[in-house]
Amino acid sequence: MNFTVLTIFPEMFSTLLVGGIVKRAIENEYISVEPIDIRGFTNDRHRTVDDRPYGGGCGMVMKPEPVAEAVRHARKKRPESYTVLLTPQGRLFDQQVAQELTGCKGLILVCGRYEGIDERIREHLVDDEISIGDYVLTGGELAAMVVIDAVSRLIPGTLGGEDSAQEDSFSTGLLEHPQYTRPRSFEGADVPDVLLSGNHGAVKEWRRQASLLRTVLNRPDLLREHHLSRDDMEFMKKLQKDIKTIIGKHSTES
Ligand code: ADE
Repeated sequence: MNFTVLTIFPEMFSTLLVGGIVKRAIENEYISVEPIDIRGFTNDRHRTVDDRPYGGGCGMVMKPEPVAEAVRHARKKRPESYTVLLTPQGRLFDQQVAQELTGCKGLILVCGRYEGIDERIREHLVDDEISIGDYVLTGGELAAMVVIDAVSRLIPGTLGGEDSAQEDSFSTGLLEHPQYTRPRSFEGADVPDVLLSGNHGAVKEWRRQASLLRTVLNRPDLLREHHLSRDDMEFMKKLQKDIKTIIGKHSTES
């Protein structure tokens, strides 16, 4: 998969080469990342990429011409790519969207700066708009890197033969269970016995229940969409009963 990134800060993307799985994926040619400087598509002496907003107001808006030229250049080079604008106004990026994007032949990621990009770019020149969360960054570059990272690790081979992507938080619809490694006892906290038991069935059950518990506590919204098995329901009912007992005990005490 090729990621072409249109940005006024192409050098930011060299951080992807510092280390980790994305660096390895680039080196092993599972992915390529090509940042393109939008300023290279300006025609004036100052290489201007922004201007004041029509209608007034504070901040600056990215001019449409250099962005449009950069998008056209990238599309000509990579005609099968899907063009995505990174913007807080886009649809929310999640594991499912990351998975969906792995189906693209290539991605052209357009990074806005300032108060945003001229609306006509959004209307006529991009296929999709993505936000990485309900907060405003100073530009789309970090968002583009998030997309590159999350999509890359789903491309078969990038995780180096491990099938850990299938077990991730969200790909199962639940948060991931806790993980432990050596030492067995760390600063007074021990690894749960079941993980040392060698009983694969018991480990699997413990992990599933730990995932459910974490999800209930931290992200109950995920469970609304999620199919729960009969065993999951048994566990949740037991949890509910335990909570009711605790509440009952405390309310009679107070
Ligand atoms: N640009 C600025 N904020 C952003 C966000 N939350 N997601 C994607 N692009 C952005």
